[in-house]
Amino acid sequence: MKSSSFTLILSIFGIIQIAQGSPVYKDKNAPLEQRVSDLVGQMSLAEKIQQLNQLSFGINLNPNNKGETVNDVAPEVGSLIYLNEDPVERNAIQRRAMEKSRLGIPILFGFDTIHGIKTVYPIPLAQACSWNPALVTQTAAVAARETKLTGIDWTFSPMIDVSRDPRWGRIAESYGEDPHTAAVFGVATVKGYQGAKLSDPFSVASCLKHFAGYGVSEGGRDYRATDISTQALWETYLPPYEAGVKAGAATLMSGFNDISGVPASANHYLLTEILKQGWNHDGFVVSDWNSVEQLIAQGVAKDRKEAGLKSFKAGVEMNMVDRIYADHLQELLLEDKITMDSINDAVSRVLRVKFRLGLFEQPYTPIVPEADRYLRPEDKIVAAKLAEESMVLLKNERAALPISPKVKSLALIGPLVKDQENLLGCWSGNGKAKDVESIFEGVTREFGDKVKLLYARGCDFDGTDESGFTEAIDAAVKADAVVICIGEKKAWSGENSSRSTIALPAIQEKLVARLKQTGKPIILVLSNGRPLELQRLEPQADAIVEIWHPGVAGGTPLAGILSGRVNPSGRLAITFPLATGQIPIYYGMRSSARPNDGNYKDISTEPLYTFGHGLSYTSFNYGKATLSKGKLASDQMLTVQVPVTNTGSVAGQETAFWFISDPVCSVSRPMKELKHFEKKTIKPGETVVFTFEIDPQRDLSHPDSTGKKLLEAGDFHVRIKDQRLTFELVDNDDRPTVSTPVPPR
Ligand code: NOJ
Repeated sequence: MKSSSFTLILSIFGIIQIAQGSPVYKDKNAPLEQRVSDLVGQMSLAEKIQQLNQLSFGINLNPNNKGETVNDVAPEVGSLIYLNEDPVERNAIQRRAMEKSRLGIPILFGFDTIHGIKTVYPIPLAQACSWNPALVTQTAAVAARETKLTGIDWTFSPMIDVSRDPRWGRIAESYGEDPHTAAVFGVATVKGYQGAKLSDPFSVASCLKHFAGYGVSEGGRDYRATDISTQALWETYLPPYEAGVKAGAATLMSGFNDISGVPASANHYLLTEILKQGWNHDGFVVSDWNSVEQLIAQGVAKDRKEAGLKSFKAGVEMNMVDRIYADHLQELLLEDKITMDSINDAVSRVLRVKFRLGLFEQPYTPIVPEADRYLRPEDKIVAAKLAEESMVLLKNERAALPISPKVKSLALIGPLVKDQENLLGCWSGNGKAKDVESIFEGVTREFGDKVKLLYARGCDFDGTDESGFTEAIDAAVKADAVVICIGEKKAWSGENSSRSTIALPAIQEKLVARLKQTGKPIILVLSNGRPLELQRLEPQADAIVEIWHPGVAGGTPLAGILSGRVNPSGRLAITFPLATGQIPIYYGMRSSARPNDGNYKDISTEPLYTFGHGLSYTSFNYGKATLSKGKLASDQMLTVQVPVTNTGSVAGQETAFWFISDPVCSVSRPMKELKHFEKKTIKPGETVVFTFEIDPQRDLSHPDSTGKKLLEAGDFHVRIKDQRLTFELVDNDDRPTVSTPVPPR
């Protein structure tokens, strides 16, 4: 049966049911697609267009989200970005939609829950350094519960833009430089938000953003153009999205950037050919804030109407805040520039998500006492665990850490020691400074009265005021060891927070240099939203702990690392350049034409800390890695294993990183690509075996510039730590290619 006749029958069926008082779309037992088409069949054009309209409601504290917020909402509106923290008010708005709109379609309430809404946990860049996706799923589930109980059904997260320029403030919101890492953590986050079913009481819909390539913003400046070849798009920037779509992410957000001249929010290739036709995504795409109207500034639309036309035709279904769809879609339809079928398809996509969320059956947020809603002790424990596992011990010399029991007095110095606000990090939802455990509190609790604590702020985050130096030096002189807590304010990363240098302001570097002159052991604690240039600071420190922006529960985990109660297990998911001028620098670069030449003449070409770097209080010895065979065909699997022994005296967690290299290929490949990682606890003296099952289709193929995955016979290397093993992929007649049906550009 043709789909139009099928729809007609369904509509007639719907009309009969309405006449009988129970339309199909209200029947929770009717199949999803029947409910969707029944409802669409009953909607007027105006009602349809409203479903594609998203407005923002409430007190807007985000200076980058410029524009009006509405206070009076039409009950037919499709979605609201709900900025207030008031489920009762939200329910009242929803009640109007359910009771006063003709068809009783619930509003979809969205919000930026990025790393927690009240129980704020570490920023995504830190999360990736935990290499513990299961724990990230747990924290995302905590966020989902609190989000849902705030009255929000949909979060604009995860951000899975592969980010390789630490000048870009939004690197904090990313899972770092590597496509596989972004894919794994993106999927882990989607699972945590969406739970087993979207209709579960504490599930929220996720939104993969910013589709696609926003992380390549030129020079690390925000909102700028991106120039991305189709090869790079398929190889580096799309894989996390493909994984997120496969994991069932309900929605995507189109980016602000243009991609080689075609803005993401008007990009038919991305939004329709790849996402809908290639990957069969049946949810919807929301534009980013004003990104439809911004097509004018980007020079591809002459006015709002044309911007709306381009965006809608490209495949943006929901229009975030600029109201262009509400103002122009009807006119565009009357002028035959767009079709009713395309409007119906767009509306169906939005409704599908609402049905899946169970909003028609359960439109209201349960109102529970605040103590049950937010910051429950068990949720803070999960946040603290993630903070603990995401902290990275970057340097440890002269046995500076853990702090020896002989240390009887400790100087805690720096603008971050008693700070609460900045530990929250960017995009901290409705998180409040008062709920944050400071470093001072954590350390006081950890060391109790065994160690005398001396505190001095020393200096501010920036500026030139050195008047606090004397007090800081006095404290250091009196102490057996000095812990200096410096870093970035939370507003220095996130949206519209690019920096021309990733070094800390001179005042902080100067404070450290002066404290070093006391001759006391220096332990540097860094809290920041991006990799930092540490070339002047690193030589001054005996130990460095990177704690990122840990959220509400970072004080105790850090204190545990300082005391040795916790053995640090974080490893970098992002390269730390030696100097800003080395950017771009990341582990997966392609080989140079002259591998031993072409280096910088003034500084090292090597980064300070490589991807995967991170120390432990124990030592791990990697035994000889072995392959199950030396040759394989494309339909066979290959197992590679390595025994790892804890040769130290304390238990520790080790992450094994498995990389693949393809030394000869029709296109030059990255020197190595992470394909698998695993984190395991190893007791002292124990040996565990790490295993990687190599699947040629998944691990040895590479995309061409149309997204078609190719397998090329020949030698490959698998790398673990400093070992490199070679094996051969042999030609067999039925060597399949894994093809994504997207036409070439
Ligand atoms: C703009 C940001 O780019 C996006 O990430 C965010 O979700 C929206 N504003 C809504 O706040």
